[in-house]
Amino acid sequence: MGPEESHQPVMVNEVLTALACKSGVKAIYIDCTVGLGGHAEAILNATAPYGKVIGIDRDSAALALAQKRCASFGDRMILRHGSFKGLIEIAETLALSEVAGVLFDLGVSSMQLDSPNRGFSCKATGPLDMRMDPSLPRTAADWVNTLHEKPLADLIDQYGEERASRRIARAIVQYRKANGPITTTDTLADIVCRVIRRKSSWKRIHPATKTFQALRIAVNDELGELDAGLSQAISLLAVGGRLVVISFHSLEDRSVKNCFRATAIASTPHEKPRRFINLYKKPVVPTGEEITRNPRARSAKLRALERVA
Ligand SMILES: C[S@@+](CC[C@H](N)C(=O)[O-])C[C@H]1O[C@@H](n2cnc3c(N)ncnc32)[C@H](O)[C@@H]1O
Repeated sequence: MGPEESHQPVMVNEVLTALACKSGVKAIYIDCTVGLGGHAEAILNATAPYGKVIGIDRDSAALALAQKRCASFGDRMILRHGSFKGLIEIAETLALSEVAGVLFDLGVSSMQLDSPNRGFSCKATGPLDMRMDPSLPRTAADWVNTLHEKPLADLIDQYGEERASRRIARAIVQYRKANGPITTTDTLADIVCRVIRRKSSWKRIHPATKTFQALRIAVNDELGELDAGLSQAISLLAVGGRLVVISFHSLEDRSVKNCFRATAIASTPHEKPRRFINLYKKPVVPTGEEITRNPRARSAKLRALERVA
């Protein structure tokens, strides 16, 4: 079984509801994080026979798997390589000015996480890479081996929300001085584990999870990409169109919440012709049954914005 076949998309029914997918309508959706094509496939099934999905990903390996999974939909599925920052440009090349819905399912895919050679997981041995798009200029090893102690600690603190960030940065710099560059995931994970020794804090997540998250966010400029992607997606919504975002950690969710709040407030009917509402007061979270079936869904939060005028 290929990874695209075993992959379970997160909160798939909640996504279809939030996007208001209907059959028999000629609607176009953009899936900005097509990944292994799980959500795209569900949208295409729910909007048969006319609905179309433009699937975007910055990872060519993911696009190849999405292509395989959704081949039976023919020209109802269009795939493009690109990042959130290039969303409007991709829409323009397809002569699209307005769409019925845009989806972001943030973070890394199970394929990326489960491929040791991509370097995303602190639990597997591989090169310290973490680039979602392998043509990006700097790997995680480049960040870890070139930053001075203070900016490295700030990065781990800011993007990983790691309380031991200063001690971890100091240990990394000491290791570099004694042994040379850190090039593999297990070397970095070991350095962090030696700093965070308390067994009690190991129970829920691996001790290096937050440090790895921080590096991944930096390598892929994830928060810059998210801000640019959200504002471009909002500008592409038709009246009645929905923007749906699933986030997996508090930094992402904060950006989404602030963006939606500012968009809904700014667009009063007196000031601007476009108006938006937050569809849900609180983020929608996975059911207990989904978390049991797919533990990776446990930290997911779904928010949705609708253009109402
Ligand atoms: C959680 S996975 C999506 C899984 C997908 N919804 C599915 O059902 O298979 C996130 C995907 O988004 C892609 N991605 C993350 N940030 C991106 C960005 N800024 N631009 C384009 N793709 C991005 C990743 O490469 C990854 O394949």
